Amino acid sequence: MDLTIEGKLYYNGTFEQGCLGIEQGKIVAIKKSLKTDNHINVGNNLILPAGIDLHVHFRDPGFTHKEDFSTGSQAAAFGGVSCVFDMPNTQPQTTSKQTLKEKTQIASEKSYVDFGLYAAVSDENIGRLAEISPFCSGFKIFLGGSTHSLQLSTKNLRVALLETNRTKKITLIHAEDEHCLKTHEDLENNLVDHLRCRSAECEETAIRTIINNSPGLSSPIHICHLSSCEGFEMLRKKPNQVSVGVTPHHLFFDVHSLNTKQTLYKVNPPIRSSFDRDTLWYGVNNKLIDIFESDHAPHTGEEKNVEFDDAPSGLPGVETMYPLLLTAMKKEQIKLSTLLTLLCERPAQLLNLPKGKMEVGRDADFIVVDLKKTETITAEKLHSKCGWTPFEGFPAIFPSMIFIRGEKVIDDHQMFVKQGFGKFVGV
Ligand code: DOR
Ligand code: ZN
Repeated sequence: MDLTIEGKLYYNGTFEQGCLGIEQGKIVAIKKSLKTDNHINVGNNLILPAGIDLHVHFRDPGFTHKEDFSTGSQAAAFGGVSCVFDMPNTQPQTTSKQTLKEKTQIASEKSYVDFGLYAAVSDENIGRLAEISPFCSGFKIFLGGSTHSLQLSTKNLRVALLETNRTKKITLIHAEDEHCLKTHEDLENNLVDHLRCRSAECEETAIRTIINNSPGLSSPIHICHLSSCEGFEMLRKKPNQVSVGVTPHHLFFDVHSLNTKQTLYKVNPPIRSSFDRDTLWYGVNNKLIDIFESDHAPHTGEEKNVEFDDAPSGLPGVETMYPLLLTAMKKEQIKLSTLLTLLCERPAQLLNLPKGKMEVGRDADFIVVDLKKTETITAEKLHSKCGWTPFEGFPAIFPSMIFIRGEKVIDDHQMFVKQGFGKFVGV
């Protein structure tokens, strides 16, 4: 074995003092006691699977003043996330073999964590998805317009889903109905206006359209960032291959507890009422939500510091997701088993990754964490290039170490691998 690590292991649903044996990046043994020359003992600290984030916008290429694959992936690693999947709304958008190859090259040179890439489905490239498929981890569809996004016309959804289904890859959908959104009609002055222009009905309608267009399909379809009670109710009719994710910002904020002039919290779909937020927590705790996803969508403070209507939507979150959820776990808002299913195991299953769980044969991707060490989130301590966080001042439990494929990536705030350590996965 190349490495053994000893601590409080989360294994088969409980904690036990034990050891992981690692060889060539994989877990090869889980035993009460194991020894090699290369042995690390983390004492009473917990060893948990690393998180997987199916939904990040690392802005590279095209918007690298907001983020790039180097800073974004550092943020992921410091937040306990070993693998990210990047959205296609970069510049150029990843809609072709060529643009995917270019982004793969960029990410391979810069990433500190493992990564996958999505291709955008537009009205123009529907006929070429089979050709694009070998170069991406899955497909992204925006049913309603959003920041820098390429929209698919709803009338083309069935054809698009038939095509992505043939590739057997996952299709992720931003579920806001284009005809329902009132974004071009009214001037928005605050978060409540934003909410009115992007009502819960838009999410409900889009989810209904997705469900109505999915008969006969078997490949996974994922509804991103569920935000409303109405959308949640609609999901009760969903077929099995349709999964759903929620973000930390929809779980930790409600619009009335925010300063509604704040453009920092302008995001699509919007942050809604406490009733919607509580419904999402209910879904999380009752096995009705499949995964957590950060929808890390950084914009600079300067870009956000403009008139409300002109501000871009989106906020950063990849680094704070696992730490905030560990704090929620400590406050008994969520069970650890649920947290790990939604943050690690189920995302791995959706993307067919040999990660997400402490099990012999899987990648040795794990974090070391001390639940007694609660810190306060401040933007200075974080690694995103955007330089701010919507969770400023929130209590959070950050991992002290992260291992990816058996390599120590971070220990005590220090990075131990070089840019380009991260590997392209999930194709
Ligand atoms: O608020 C959002 N920002 N929603 C999206 O769908 C896109 C994202 C971005 O890329 O900025
Ligand atoms: Zn997104």
